Amino acid sequence: MDKMIIQGGERLIGEIQIGGAKNAALPLFMASLLTEEPVHLHNVPALRDVDTVEKLLTNMDITVKRGGRDAEVQAKALDTIEAPYDLVRTMRASVLVMGPLLARAHEAKVSLPGGCAIGTRPINLHLDGFAALGAEIDLEHGYVHARAGKLRGTTIDLPIPTVTGTENLMMAAALAEGVTVIENAAREPEVVELGNFINQMGGRISGLGTKTLIIEGVNALHGAEYTIMPDRVEAATYMVAAGMTRGNLLLKGARPEHLKAVIDKLMEAGMEIKAENGGLRCLLIGPIKSVDAKTLPYPGFPTDVQAQLMAMMSFANGLSVISESVFENRFMHVSELKRMGADIQVEGHSAIIRGKESLSGAPVMATDLRASASLVLAGLAAHGTTEISRIYHLDRGYERMDEKLRAVGAKIERVKS
Ligand code: EPZ
Repeated sequence: MDKMIIQGGERLIGEIQIGGAKNAALPLFMASLLTEEPVHLHNVPALRDVDTVEKLLTNMDITVKRGGRDAEVQAKALDTIEAPYDLVRTMRASVLVMGPLLARAHEAKVSLPGGCAIGTRPINLHLDGFAALGAEIDLEHGYVHARAGKLRGTTIDLPIPTVTGTENLMMAAALAEGVTVIENAAREPEVVELGNFINQMGGRISGLGTKTLIIEGVNALHGAEYTIMPDRVEAATYMVAAGMTRGNLLLKGARPEHLKAVIDKLMEAGMEIKAENGGLRCLLIGPIKSVDAKTLPYPGFPTDVQAQLMAMMSFANGLSVISESVFENRFMHVSELKRMGADIQVEGHSAIIRGKESLSGAPVMATDLRASASLVLAGLAAHGTTEISRIYHLDRGYERMDEKLRAVGAKIERVKS
């Protein structure tokens, strides 16, 4: 397994190109199952999770052709309706095959994703929604077996604005009989991206970006061509890197309208962030100020940036309280940051961080995607050497992170161990 070795203390100065959004690419690949015609996707990020989706769809005899940042997907027929455990457990977003399979093949057999480092992450709301649309759901031997005739539009009231739950149900409803209304729908930009894509395919979805989605089922969807939005979480991660290293970065392609809560919070912490040349110019003005934050569904402060903010607050003047309200166990990075000297106490769903002048580099271990990013950030700002193991977590959601950071002055090497 590879490791990342970082010599801290370098200011990051220069430009970083932000890649296509992982959490938009994954549902868009799945939505390609809704039509028998070819779909063309552009700005596809080169990530492990995209490789996993490619494997999953290829296993289902779906044609996937990738070249650079382009992909062509064609599901001529949906004869294989199964998503096996070995793939679902490596990437829970595999459950997004259920919506399209039920909509078009009227059957889906998908392994239950099981938990992951950040929580049990059930899919009960996905299944309740499918049942409301008329599917029969059986749980057998760790698999969900769902069967349906033609799905019938209905009103679904989500107790939690689940992101992939909203996406799964939107895809299922796109080909259902009649109109489906999803109340308390997720409003993340990636959900809007999926809705826009389905509309490009001939779908009729309105209310995208609001709490109420109205999906008018159609008989069939056709092929489409789509360019995937930039990854707002990758951009947020490098914004924090600019602040923590007292650097000055231009994040090319980053869209401020997707990052309002993050920009507001980082400016409160002492950064200047402004639109420039189709990207975001990010730098720290003065010392890092301690700020409090609570993660919330979009448009609130994103849970996917919680670990990165915590790394930054470990270097701030004063005391910060960061609360995680979306997942029940998303503080796996705390113990690793403490190995580097961070002063953090976890009380239930909140972490209390007493900022310090600096942290000291140390051997640490990545546990989940965004926790591993926070360890890279801490290593960049700490003095001495930080060695991060299990960085396959990083590869799931960050494309060539060491190369991008080296290009702006970081002393970071990826070594085979
Ligand atoms: C999506 O996960 C993202 N993944 C996550 O990004 C992100 O952290 C999360 O949304 C929240 O923004 C993708 O888009 C592929 P949820 P998802 O369903 O859809 C509970 C990353 O780092 N819940 O919105 O799985 C759930 O346990 C990843 O890129 C139920 O109880 O998140 C959680 O506490 C990590 N029952 C809360 O809702 C359900 O049926 C929010 O989960 C579904 C969810």
